[in-house]
Amino acid sequence: MNKIRTILTLSFVIAGLSGAMPTFALDSLRGAAIEKMSAQPAKRRIDIVEGGIERSFEEQPPMIPHRIETYALNLRQQDCLNCHSRARAEAENTKPPSDSHFVDRDGNQLERLSSRRYFCTQCHMVQIKGKPLVENTFEGLE
Ligand code: HEC
Ligand code: HEC
Repeated sequence: MNKIRTILTLSFVIAGLSGAMPTFALDSLRGAAIEKMSAQPAKRRIDIVEGGIERSFEEQPPMIPHRIETYALNLRQQDCLNCHSRARAEAENTKPPSDSHFVDRDGNQLERLSSRRYFCTQCHMVQIKGKPLVENTFEGLE
């Protein structure tokens, strides 16, 4: 039994080394194989918009109009609330999360932010200054 396994492993190693293993190329929305695209990653410039980014549809979680890479958002630390908590928002010249963020799954009003809304970037994200990956005719709210 062990012998068979050794032979099998060896033949896989040899096949791998000789390039006989199948290779897969994934096609992305950008049309080119991902391997080729990843050779030179595009520069990402975060879109910083004073006064906020207009919403494209009702109930849209507003986009984040500022950088966030220096803010921690994990189980132990939540930096967003340093500025966006109800207590801090006014002083920081921004808005606190709306009332929908203070409701549990049964619809009960909560004193504290709902744990369902703890990881803000589940719904709110920064925008980059980039060209659309594919042609897009979506028209948002005026
Ligand atoms: C140092 C303070 C500060 C921190 C920390 C911060 N923000 Fe902000 N945020 C602001 C300010 C100020 C604005 C308003 C910017 C403007 O309108 O020009 C804002 C705007 C926003 C908006 C847009 C709100 C709207 O109604 O358009 C969202 C969403 C947001 N922030 C999410 C986040 C998230 C998520 C984090 C954590 C990853 C975060 N912010 C961390 C200060 C902060
Ligand atoms: C599950 C999705 C979700 C998560 C997680 C979430 N939000 Fe939101 N947020 C929304 C949606 C949807 C809206 C717009 C509709 C509304 O106000 O309920 C919104 C609106 C907002 C607004 C605009 C409030 C206003 O009065 O215009 C702010 C500010 C905001 N969120 C901040 C945050 C912050 C900070 C966090 C993390 C602590 C967070 N959100 C987590 C979905 C989310």
